[in-house]
Amino acid sequence: MLNIVILAAGKGSRMQSRLPKVMHLLAGEPILFHVIRTAKTLVDEFGGAVTVVTGHGREHIDDWVGTLGCRLAYQDRQLGTGHALTIALENASAEGKTLVLYGDVPLVTPDILRPLLAVSDDHLSVLTAIVKDPAGYGRIIRNGDGDVLSIVEHRDASATERAICEINSGIYAAPTALFQRLLPQVKNTNAQEEYYLTDCVALAVAEGAIVHGITGPEAAVMGINDKAQLAQMEQLVQAERRNALLQAGVTLRDPSSVYIMGEVEVGADVVIEPNVTLIGPLSIGTGCHIGFGCHLTRVEVAEQVVLKPYSVLEDTHVGEAAQIGPFARLRPGTRLAANTHIGNFVETKNAEIGVGSKVNHLSYIGDASVGELSNVGAGTITCNYDGANKHRTVLGDRVFVGSNSSLVAPVTVGDGATLGAGSVITRDVEPDALAVSRAPQKSIPSYQRPKKAKE
Ligand code: UD1
Ligand code: MG
Repeated sequence: MLNIVILAAGKGSRMQSRLPKVMHLLAGEPILFHVIRTAKTLVDEFGGAVTVVTGHGREHIDDWVGTLGCRLAYQDRQLGTGHALTIALENASAEGKTLVLYGDVPLVTPDILRPLLAVSDDHLSVLTAIVKDPAGYGRIIRNGDGDVLSIVEHRDASATERAICEINSGIYAAPTALFQRLLPQVKNTNAQEEYYLTDCVALAVAEGAIVHGITGPEAAVMGINDKAQLAQMEQLVQAERRNALLQAGVTLRDPSSVYIMGEVEVGADVVIEPNVTLIGPLSIGTGCHIGFGCHLTRVEVAEQVVLKPYSVLEDTHVGEAAQIGPFARLRPGTRLAANTHIGNFVETKNAEIGVGSKVNHLSYIGDASVGELSNVGAGTITCNYDGANKHRTVLGDRVFVGSNSSLVAPVTVGDGATLGAGSVITRDVEPDALAVSRAPQKSIPSYQRPKKAKE
């Protein structure tokens, strides 16, 4: 039985923000979400539950944490990390182990945590790291044999202690009963007048328990306390994700300019040009070409699709071998079948475009469906909104829409119909008919233009 407690009640004053620190986004997801994902992987493996301690700004956190299947503990006043864990363990069973994670230390992985859990049952283990710049972190004090004796917070440390480069990650594992025994002994006699969870280490040693300091990689134990650290960590995560894509056979022309948020799946032989942003969940099939400056949010792109530069796609499905852009905007609910073409300055929304159909220039296609092999001419607009309600436009297969036509919805155009250029279509058109609704052309021979009046 594994009891995982994530501490996330602090304000994070150093972020200078109204949003609680752990809700700021790292690679497109709240900092806290990265920690919860790791916790859930371990709970799936060992059994048990995840409890998140919230307090400051809980109205921004609690509902969302609930939907992720975690329990909540409420820390009304943030009296320190020791106080936060006390609250989380108040009603916990004394059986099994407790693993403490910090909501602001997001890069730790299940692989790094497993050795802490492997430590024998009556010991406490703490995850540490050797870092270049230990300022701000608690320092790990070991004896000559390398056993951990205590943790000293930066603010409370002497000059010699501050010179120690091994820091506390804030991540510990111990039998729940051991924490429950030690926590009531923690005092708040320190620079911040807080109940420090770190004091459990010296208390455990005093009780004769062994404390194992397990050293992990520096990046994995980095905490986020201000916007500079958040930015630095974003760069680390992005570098890792770009590298994962490169290893999977994706070509990134300029890796440093590609941003990857959330869960992203990209097939082999995909070429991604510079300045592309991918916001997941998103998938791109093999052999696609994602042009310069494209911005993709929650899309499903099949194989061999070409996205020309500066196309913006959101909540959209793109079928095989479609060609899109440059400068296309595909809004939520767009579903493009295979071999479709969407050209420059075309906006679609809640629109289905059938196999092989083309909307190549300067159009708005909203709340519409277009059948197969139809051609929608330049400047076509679906007038879907009557000022109060939205209506649908339905075009059949092999329809030809002449340039600069308006389709006033609700309206249906049958298979094989042709609409003359410049028409305003307000009534349904039967299959194979030609519908034209513009004034017949007149010619006035030898026409004299008006002349400017003399002064
Ligand atoms: C803490 C550790 C420090 C360690 C560092 C690693 C203590 C006393 N210090 O310092 O040794 O090197 O993390 O990043 O533990 N929190 C609560 N309730 C509270 C106070 C804090 O839930 O009353 C939560 C915060 O939301 C945060 C985490 O605990 O997620 C850590 O708190 P923070 O104030 O950032 O501690 P640090 O000063 O970073
Ligand atoms: Mg911190």
